[in-house]
Amino acid sequence: MSGPMDQLIKERKRIVQTITKFADPVQTKRELHSLEHVSQIDVLTPEIISSTPTTITMEYFTGVTAFSALEILARNNKHSEVEKLLDTILTDLFTLQESSRHFGSGVYPYRQKMLEITEMLRLKDMDLFADKILAKLDGLEESFVIQAHIPFRDATPKNYTILNESESSVEKNGIAEGFIIGHFDFATFHMNTHQYDDVISVLYHYMVRDEIRDRLLSKYSVDLFGSESALATTILRLGRFWLRRVYYQSYHESLFKKRYKFESIR
Ligand SMILES: Nc1ncnc2c1ncn2[C@@H]1O[C@H](COP(=O)(O)OP(=O)(O)OP(=O)(O)O)[C@@H](O)[C@H]1O
Ligand SMILES: [Mg+2]
Repeated sequence: MSGPMDQLIKERKRIVQTITKFADPVQTKRELHSLEHVSQIDVLTPEIISSTPTTITMEYFTGVTAFSALEILARNNKHSEVEKLLDTILTDLFTLQESSRHFGSGVYPYRQKMLEITEMLRLKDMDLFADKILAKLDGLEESFVIQAHIPFRDATPKNYTILNESESSVEKNGIAEGFIIGHFDFATFHMNTHQYDDVISVLYHYMVRDEIRDRLLSKYSVDLFGSESALATTILRLGRFWLRRVYYQSYHESLFKKRYKFESIR
């Protein structure tokens, strides 16, 4: 028998698929719920093929991650393309944020995450710094929580694919005009955070020059130190980046060398 259904099945078979595993059914459900919500917004998410309580089979975006593309572009001094790519990611992020206010069912665990930062500060003999944060933690948490209205996307460039590009095509020609970005990994989207949290996740990477970051922050009127809640968010996110880096450096040297291989080690 052939007919429209047959055609649909054939098209479906042509989709390259990937299976993502989740630790438990709650996480799977959250990811499905987030993907379903985001698929209705004007950003591209993978089509869901099927799911079980601990896996989701979804469309695989063939291309290069935005993170790898940024690395290659920066290494080749194509800084205006770096800026353009980041600008597009930010535009998508703000579209997503606009349509998702209060989507999360809880607030990002600010206190717990900050306490982990202070623990590491102590391990690194930076007790004075830890004490300063602890003395202000109640106030910081309060100002963060009252402005935590937007789901935490975890908008790092590792969570996007530029479709139909490859490392060698970016190396050779940069990124094509009219490039398309695919969005995946919504593991943290059920937690509400401050709007600027994800802006930091997009912009604070070693391959982004200060002047590019400053221009984009000013284009979108983002002042990371402009209010108590913005400040609380900036300390949180940059603190988390610092924590992850020091953790790898101190306890997983070989992974550290791999993960941070192009960054200057300070
Ligand atoms: N739908 C997809 N299309 C293309 N690539 C994908 C897709 N889903 C996942 N990936 C790839 O698999 C990797 C891991 O997936 P994901 O981001 O969901 O998990 P993660 O826990 O954040 O892992 P990582 O820390 O490696 O990013 C991604 O970095 C990306 O390269
Ligand atoms: Mg990821």
